[in-house]
Amino acid sequence: MERLDKLLANTGRWSRREVKELVRRGQVRVDGVIAASAEQKITPTAAVTVSGEPVALGSCTYLLLHKPAGVLTATEDRRQPTVLELLPPELRRIDLAPVGRLDKDTEGLLLLTNDGELTHRLLSPRYHVDKRYLARVDGDLSPADVSAFAAGMTLPDGLVCLPAGLELLPQPRTCIVTLREGKFHQVKRMLAACGAPVLYLKRLSMGPLTLPDDLPPGAYRLLTDEEISALYRACAM
Ligand code: URA
Repeated sequence: MERLDKLLANTGRWSRREVKELVRRGQVRVDGVIAASAEQKITPTAAVTVSGEPVALGSCTYLLLHKPAGVLTATEDRRQPTVLELLPPELRRIDLAPVGRLDKDTEGLLLLTNDGELTHRLLSPRYHVDKRYLARVDGDLSPADVSAFAAGMTLPDGLVCLPAGLELLPQPRTCIVTLREGKFHQVKRMLAACGAPVLYLKRLSMGPLTLPDDLPPGAYRLLTDEEISALYRACAM
């Protein structure tokens, strides 16, 4: 048996305080009966509705965060701020972890979830989930670099890269890189090997997920059911 407010807050959709208010307003039902208290103990298999809508309890939580530069992709660090610290307390207690890593100075789309199987598959080269990055570089890239990316590069430091996309944008020294894997500092290392060290890097998409234009750096939102289904399809789950 678990507390109703804990189970509902674990879905990531409401804080415990919001659950309390919903219960006070009679909006929460447990097995068809209006909940008497946010603290009442229920079984995780109980049928719970909020404002008439069924809520899947015990299910995983999926967040899309616009990671700002200057925070670590980690769940805790003694000295530096982490992406978990951008979330409210109720979302820090449910074992969310980042799916893959963005460097401290990289911005953009970061998925956080407590769905271990999905995380494993999204990071596996076997499922080839593309990641797209916008990069501004200090150097001129050429069509020969585009061909080298497409062929699969072996870098002077020995890193062997799968074929990757490089699209040169009309703005000078700006490009989009598409990778199917995520080796340590991979975009920076590949572009540096072409004589174009990265000045700015932002992840735009991961598989079917795209960074929304209206999500400012530091903000997050829950994935929609459609986005979760699309992620599952992308890695054959
Ligand atoms: N490649 C990099 O070099 N850095 C990132 O943060 C992500 C991909």
